[in-house]
Amino acid sequence: MGLLTGKTALITGAARGIGKAIALRFAAEGANIAFTDLVIDENGKATEAEIASLGVKAKGYASNAADFAQSEEVVKQVKEDFGSIDILVNNAGITKDGLMLRMTEAQWDAVIGVNLKSAFNFIHACVPVMMRQRGGSIINMASVVGVHGNAGQANYAASKAGMIALAKSVAQEMGPKGIRANAIAPGFIDTAMTQELSEEVRKEWMNQIPLRRGGTVDDVANCAVYLASDLSSYVSGQVIQVDGGMNM
Ligand SMILES: NC(=O)c1ccc[n+]([C@@H]2O[C@H](COP(=O)([O-])OP(=O)(O)OC[C@H]3O[C@@H](n4cnc5c(N)ncnc54)[C@H](O)[C@@H]3O)[C@@H](O)[C@H]2O)c1
Repeated sequence: MGLLTGKTALITGAARGIGKAIALRFAAEGANIAFTDLVIDENGKATEAEIASLGVKAKGYASNAADFAQSEEVVKQVKEDFGSIDILVNNAGITKDGLMLRMTEAQWDAVIGVNLKSAFNFIHACVPVMMRQRGGSIINMASVVGVHGNAGQANYAASKAGMIALAKSVAQEMGPKGIRANAIAPGFIDTAMTQELSEEVRKEWMNQIPLRRGGTVDDVANCAVYLASDLSSYVSGQVIQVDGGMNM
């Protein structure tokens, strides 16, 4: 028996990166996996097949997580296809960095929409399902910059701080219904998002990390398994920083 056997997890933005690692890790623990991404192309289909090869049900849904109506529709579809939704991971995220003076309204709106409104969309649609099931675990993917701020990332940091406050608020509202909500705040994780950074910036980050390495997507996925499973049955409204000790 895996830690998540018999559970259904819905993960947004999981065709690649951290979301995909979480999907694979959850599947290895026996969970059936529904995931979304903007498009389910060859890459998304390959992710779907890789998850299914672990012996669970897997299906990718093309949808824009920032769109309220599309998100509602996906949740409805997942409920029909899988029968239940026990775990929701709000993982879809983007960056559009810039210093405040140069940041455009479009940069602000895009990041808040994909990183924060998406979580509202999915939580809003999943909570009634979880209430009927008398339980559920919601995980918001935040970031250490949502706790500490970051010059040049006001939009991103504000969206991630919002993800933390959203998780805490949902934890308070939904606790009596057996629904837990927590946030993961990854630090510097080696993915496509961070590979775009210059060698100089990477070096700067490494110097601030006591463990002197970037995190792996599996480091984040292991934390997600803990929060999704009954191992954390008395843990709600928390932010776990997965950052090699960068922020204490
Ligand atoms: N990589 C890091 O160092 C790091 C650190 C802290 C937090 N995070 C957060 O972790 C999450 C995953 O990041 P990642 O590094 O795997 O990024 P990634 O870019 O590799 O993956 C993000 C996925 O989200 C999808 N996506 C983007 N916009 C979407 C939308 N509107 N609707 C649905 N899907 C959408 C992308 O297509 C992609 O598959 C993000 O929320 C990110 O902010 C990452």
